[in-house]
Amino acid sequence: MKVLITGGTNGMGLGVARALAAQSAVEVVILGRSEELGKHTCDALARIATPERVSFVRCDLARLRDVRAAVDEIRNRHPSLDAIFVNAGLGYAPRRVETEDGLLEHFQVNYLAHFMLTLNLLDLLEASAHGGRVVFNATQVGELSFDNLQLEEKWSFEVAVGLGMVAKHLFYKQLHKLYGSRPQTSVSCLGFQIHKTVWSNQLNIIPRPMKAIATVMKWLGRFISIDECGTTMAPLFTEDKVASHARSGRFLTWSRGVFSDVGVDPSSDDPQDWQQLWDISLDLCGDERTRQCAARLARELTDVPESGLREKNHGKS
Ligand SMILES: NC(=O)c1ccc[n+]([C@@H]2O[C@H](COP(=O)([O-])OP(=O)(O)OC[C@H]3O[C@@H](n4cnc5c(N)ncnc54)[C@H](OP(=O)(O)O)[C@@H]3O)[C@@H](O)[C@H]2O)c1
Repeated sequence: MKVLITGGTNGMGLGVARALAAQSAVEVVILGRSEELGKHTCDALARIATPERVSFVRCDLARLRDVRAAVDEIRNRHPSLDAIFVNAGLGYAPRRVETEDGLLEHFQVNYLAHFMLTLNLLDLLEASAHGGRVVFNATQVGELSFDNLQLEEKWSFEVAVGLGMVAKHLFYKQLHKLYGSRPQTSVSCLGFQIHKTVWSNQLNIIPRPMKAIATVMKWLGRFISIDECGTTMAPLFTEDKVASHARSGRFLTWSRGVFSDVGVDPSSDDPQDWQQLWDISLDLCGDERTRQCAARLARELTDVPESGLREKNHGKS
């Protein structure tokens, strides 16, 4: 199994990378924004795995031009992929930041860059002999308003994180819908919510009062380590095709030693919203190749229009 992990240099992504690197049949491809941290991470993982089973792709998800370059690099190096872990994300931030692409950084890093990356790698997942899959690190939290996707007013980091989470839910549900009608080349897409808060690198960047509260919560057993998170999630990347397909479209968590459904989330349950965000995302990426990937999927379907709802006012200034 060859698994691409975004944000594999820290936190939950690193925990999953370590758990997978410990398995001799798994190759781990880390995507991260820092060359130096990437090298450090690969050196550490190579002590668990072997150097040829670990590699790094530099990509700052806050730059869409980096995503385009990363897609080329991954495609040049890997004829197929078995899994993508859509994980990298911003949590705490002291203020609203716009990327060089003119977008809300949380929206771009946590969601849109992953939309672009994933769409451009779907054919590599389709080429997997083990059943390609995309696992979304998601939580049931937040809201998404199509009139205020960039949170130009009333920004807070919690609202921004929640927006990215809902966007990820809409994305994997749309992907599942698209692939559901073509089982012969199906790619599974699922959301996973970790059952406890993970003691990740986030704790190093939050303000002191928040860290003090988190430390108390840690004493109360409310946190798990990144390695426990990695061990819990690892089977989602390595289980066989049939098991993975059976989970597609679902939103899972870990409960009483098994993966179980979280339940219906009304904020991401409307197929019109899935299509609307899909169309808006294609516009925001402004990338011809990403459009072609979406058009290819739509062409191969019978029940989904190539261009769905078009919402002009989607909050990009
Ligand atoms: N911790 C939890 O309990 C929890 C629970 C549910 C969901 N989540 C979600 O899990 C994801 C990971 O969070 P975490 O807690 O593991 O946080 P973390 O320790 O801060 O890790 C975040 C990862 O994302 C990477 N990243 C951030 N901005 C990036 C960018 N512009 N380009 C490329 N990579 C970037 C970071 O890279 P660097 O290493 O360079 O910083 C890091 O590897 C987030 O989406 C978060 O919302 C976390």
